[in-house]
Formats: sequence, structure tokens, C-alpha cells
Amino acid sequence: MRIGTLAKAAVLALTAVSAQAQNADLGQEVFSQYCATCHGATGAGDGPMAALMTTSIPDLRQLAARNDGEFPMLRVIHIIDGRTELRAHGGPMPVYGTLFSAGAGTQDLYVDVLYTRGRVLSLAYYLETIQN
Ligand code: HEC
Repeated sequence: MRIGTLAKAAVLALTAVSAQAQNADLGQEVFSQYCATCHGATGAGDGPMAALMTTSIPDLRQLAARNDGEFPMLRVIHIIDGRTELRAHGGPMPVYGTLFSAGAGTQDLYVDVLYTRGRVLSLAYYLETIQN
């Protein structure tokens, strides 16, 4: 039990710090699952929910271009983890339910924190890779 938990934590820690390409793969998966409905499969802002929204959905491929060519990593992380509240995201992230706050659902706070940060970072890295 204890060894299993440690092994899991180690894997998650490795996942969190491994090559960006690998993070981007997980990030892409999370993106298609939780963000593409609004932001579109490519991030262009043309997901199926776009027609139902009263706010226009920003093109996430332009985040760097709109920030003097530099990808606003910290701002993006704060938007994803809910520290920067966006009305369209339902304030502190109800759109994502507990995805980025509850962690892996283990009883181990350390594992949960690593899991959650891994997902948030992977998603942010992925968004960096789709910049125009
Ligand atoms: C319900 C539709 C919806 C979903 C789902 C959604 N977004 Fe958004 N998002 C928006 C809208 C609309 C905005 C425009 C900002 C606003 O007015 O709240 C936005 C803004 C953003 C911004 C800021 C863009 C900018 O130009 O400053 C980022 C980054 C972002 N979303 C990332 C994500 C990620 C990552 C996910 C998935 C975890 C996600 N969004 C899920 C609708 C959505």
C-alpha cells in the first residue's frame, strides 16, 4: 500500500517534470476533453458551444501574439487553476468541476497535489505549443 503510493507519487512527479512534448500530449488530451467544447479542437474559439455563448470565445492560438509575442505562461496557469476568475469559466472553475482542484482522489495530499499540478502544467504547455 505504502510502496504503491510512493511509486505513484514518483511517477506523477516524473510526469510533472518530464519533457515538454510528453506534457503536451497529456495536455492535449485534457484540452480535448474539457476545453474544446468552447475553444474548439484547435483552440480557434469555434467549439460547438460557441454558438450558445453570449461572450465571444478567444482564439487560444493568439495568446502569445496578443502578449507582445511572449506566451503568458503564469497568467494561463492562473486561469486554468482558477486563481484568475473568468466569468465564462464560471468563476472559480465550476465548468471543470473538481478536475483541477480535487486532485487524483487519493487520500494522500502529496499525490493529489502533484496530480493536479501535472494536469494544469500539461495543459499550459500544450497551449504554448499551439501558438501561431
Ligand atoms: C463554457 C465555455 C468554455 C470552456 C469549457 C472553457 N472556456 Fe476558456 N474561455 C471561454 C470564454 C468565453 C473566454 C473569454 C473570457 C471571458 O469572458 O470569460 C475564455 C477565456 C479563456 C482564456 C483567456 C484567453 C485570453 O485571451 O485571455 C484561457 C487561457 C482559457 N479560456 C483557457 C481554457 C482552458 C484551458 C479550458 C479547459 C480547461 C477552457 N478555457 C474551457 C469559454 C470557455
